Amino acid sequence: MVVLGAGPAGLVVGLLLQAAGIDCVILERASRTHVQTRARAGFLAPNTVRVLERHDLADGLHRDGRRHGTCEFRTEDGRFRLDYGSLGQGGQHHVYPQQNLVTDLLTRYLDSGGRIRFRTEGLAVRDADSARPSVTTREPDGRPTRWTARYVAGCDGRHGAARRSLPPDTVRHHRHDHGVTWLGLLAATPPSLDAVGYAIHAHGFAGHMARTADVTRYYLQWRRGTPADAWPEQRVWDELDIRMRAADHGPLRRGALLERGVFDLTCDVVEPLRHGSLFLAGDAASLLAPAAAKGANLAVLEAEILAQALVDALARGDTAGLDAYSDRCLAHIWRAQEFTGWMTRLLHAAPEQDRGAGGGSFFHAALQRSRLNSLRTSRIHQDWFAENYVGV
Ligand code: APR
Repeated sequence: MVVLGAGPAGLVVGLLLQAAGIDCVILERASRTHVQTRARAGFLAPNTVRVLERHDLADGLHRDGRRHGTCEFRTEDGRFRLDYGSLGQGGQHHVYPQQNLVTDLLTRYLDSGGRIRFRTEGLAVRDADSARPSVTTREPDGRPTRWTARYVAGCDGRHGAARRSLPPDTVRHHRHDHGVTWLGLLAATPPSLDAVGYAIHAHGFAGHMARTADVTRYYLQWRRGTPADAWPEQRVWDELDIRMRAADHGPLRRGALLERGVFDLTCDVVEPLRHGSLFLAGDAASLLAPAAAKGANLAVLEAEILAQALVDALARGDTAGLDAYSDRCLAHIWRAQEFTGWMTRLLHAAPEQDRGAGGGSFFHAALQRSRLNSLRTSRIHQDWFAENYVGV
């Protein structure tokens, strides 16, 4: 088995194959240090925790992670909190920085004798429609090499070699731009709220998500095309105060901005997820807008489904799981896409392209206000929200 990519998806596939005695190698473009220190997501859904517990991979999470079950919405009609951990099916998140999770998975895989080739870039997947596919790579010293296996798990993200190798005549690539751009911030300061904060303001959206006891992630809806460093820190914090209505609900805890990044809220889905002996999982399969913190959770879910199907095929000759893999994961992907799209429209009044359209932004703002009031007042709506917010 060859696994492309050592992110959450690739590492879970590698670990589960290793536990079943299936020989595999993970090919990872970056260095070990980069993989282990890359700050990405940090909200683990109940299913992700179950997968980690099922495979005895949750020690770090239970030692250093913290349960989280509350959202706080701040709007022109006031503030309201949803204790989603006691709504819907009662699921909560665990706050545990992804770099910690990836380090746990990586360390376990290597300590158990797993093989990872760092700084080894996959260039293309060849002969995926055969029983002997191969991955051409560029080794750390620049030499070209080829890795051959019975199956290839493409877990190398949306820009990786797996996607690039899909036969264009058989793949359907669905793309959507939500028309919104965020400035993502990592601040050296403890969280200002004991909840995930979503602020809806005439200036635009602002978000607050704890990462650790002394690092907090903030988001500002951002004018598309404006560079991340366009504002000095003071102006960033002042705008966060305005949008999160600090005057009404208390000041934010300020600190140095460790990281800034601007990104458009886009999403995509590749269909089908299987091409002969090549299988896609994680961001290689689909990308979600970050509004509902689902990316890493969907990656882990798909990785477990794929690994179990590969073990059935390689250890027992039963390919039913592989045959069903794409449809089974696409059902989860489209449900996550639908909720993330709803959440994106809840948090942002009008997509950029609609702002200038006369009453367009008023119309969107009125819809948004109605959605928020329904979420504020309807227990049925709150149960639906909670089930989808933590579910994958
Ligand atoms: N060859 C080898 N490795 C590659 C290549 C390549 N051509 N291209 C990318 N990679 C590696 C990247 O360096 C990265 O380590 O593949 C890995 C992909 O990992 P992620 O981007 O984390 O994707 P995935 O495992 O699918 O996890 C998806 O986790 O990162 C969070 O929220 C984020 O939604 C995302 C989720």
